[in-house]
Amino acid sequence: MGAIPAITLNNAVQIPQLGFGTFQIEPEETRETTLAALEAGYRHIDTAQMYGNEKEVGQAVRDCGVDRADIFVTSKLNNDAHAHDDALKAFDRTMDELGLDYLDLFLIHWPLPGKGDFVETWKALEEIYRDGRAKSIGVSNFQPKHLNRLLQNTDVVPAVNQIEVHPYLTQDDVRAFGAEHDIATEAWSPIAQGKVLDDPTINRIAQREGKTPAQVTLRWHIQRGDIVFPKSVTQKRIEENFDIFGFELSEGDIGEISALNRDERVGPDPDTFNG
Ligand SMILES: NC(=O)c1ccc[n+]([C@@H]2O[C@H](COP(=O)([O-])OP(=O)(O)OC[C@H]3O[C@@H](n4cnc5c(N)ncnc54)[C@H](OP(=O)(O)O)[C@@H]3O)[C@@H](O)[C@H]2O)c1
Repeated sequence: MGAIPAITLNNAVQIPQLGFGTFQIEPEETRETTLAALEAGYRHIDTAQMYGNEKEVGQAVRDCGVDRADIFVTSKLNNDAHAHDDALKAFDRTMDELGLDYLDLFLIHWPLPGKGDFVETWKALEEIYRDGRAKSIGVSNFQPKHLNRLLQNTDVVPAVNQIEVHPYLTQDDVRAFGAEHDIATEAWSPIAQGKVLDDPTINRIAQREGKTPAQVTLRWHIQRGDIVFPKSVTQKRIEENFDIFGFELSEGDIGEISALNRDERVGPDPDTFNG
């Protein structure tokens, strides 16, 4: 098994391209599951205020015996805290919950275009970044028009945009906009919460490679250059999803999987979702 590659963000910070997602992991299960991921070799954990499990993620990070500096931890601002002062207070709460001295990456979780103004929210994140309490800041679920508004009205270019991406939603336009502006794409729900795993094309390639459909799908993301953090509470899958660096898909395979796109979301549409 090869080492996890790192992606260099626009502020020179390095992020492991593969991480562990914690959405829908119950708080009671989170410490143990996150410890299992860290034990399997993951060094990047993705949580959010909305997931209600930051405390247990923090416990795992503190208890696992790996140096804090070697683990990349992301959290995200809740949708009810977009006002400037609310965002600062919410960040303080995140740090209390996690029990860590700094965060590696803090994101605005959703743009909420029908509510308030995310430019104000971003200015609060810029303060947190300048104070060094978050080593990088970014956004999630931003469309190019939302990113353009930030680029035109604020100073710090988001380090990442975390968006839904998988073979049924390839997001070519948002990813291209990110690439053009040096904003790394993080692909959430990378296996579409399991929905792509029965796909005949993905299964054919998986059989040929002697890999599972999840491994082939995650490998497709890695070779496209996105950052991924599949979620699983199942030990075997946690290990399986980590074991994707010992094989390579051809350009033809990548093209075939990309051609499965049908603009089908498993989550909300950022243009209409308002929290
Ligand atoms: N920014 C956002 O708005 C946003 C939104 C959604 C997600 N996210 C982030 O992205 C992460 C990943 O997305 P996600 O959790 O929605 O979905 P996902 O990682 O695409 O899929 C998770 C589901 O697939 C199953 N699974 C995992 N590995 C598998 C494997 N090897 N074989 C078969 N089934 C497998 C899991 O089951 P078991 O757990 O039962 O094993 C779970 O039901 C989240 O955890 C979160 O950190 C961010």
